[in-house]
Amino acid sequence: MKFSGTNSEKSNLAEMIRKDIIGELEAINQYDLHYRMTDDPVAKKVFADIRDEEKVHVGELFTLLAYIEPEDAKFLAKGEEEVKEFIN
Ligand SMILES: [Fe+2]
Repeated sequence: MKFSGTNSEKSNLAEMIRKDIIGELEAINQYDLHYRMTDDPVAKKVFADIRDEEKVHVGELFTLLAYIEPEDAKFLAKGEEEVKEFIN
């Protein structure tokens, strides 16, 4: 399925999604920091659970961005390939 809005709507939506991804990444770092700052086992479990939920949100948003901006998806795939060359 392809995004059906105007180019302006598409650009605004893509910008919003990128900002949302930034927020999710900052949240991951914050929850991970709080996870590492406590020794309480219940608090650690809660922080880890929330942190991992934020990682799922990052995946959802990147997938949404790829739907809105297929060109972005091509760049992401190119980056993935470049790193895989170093790994292999
Ligand atoms: Fe989130």
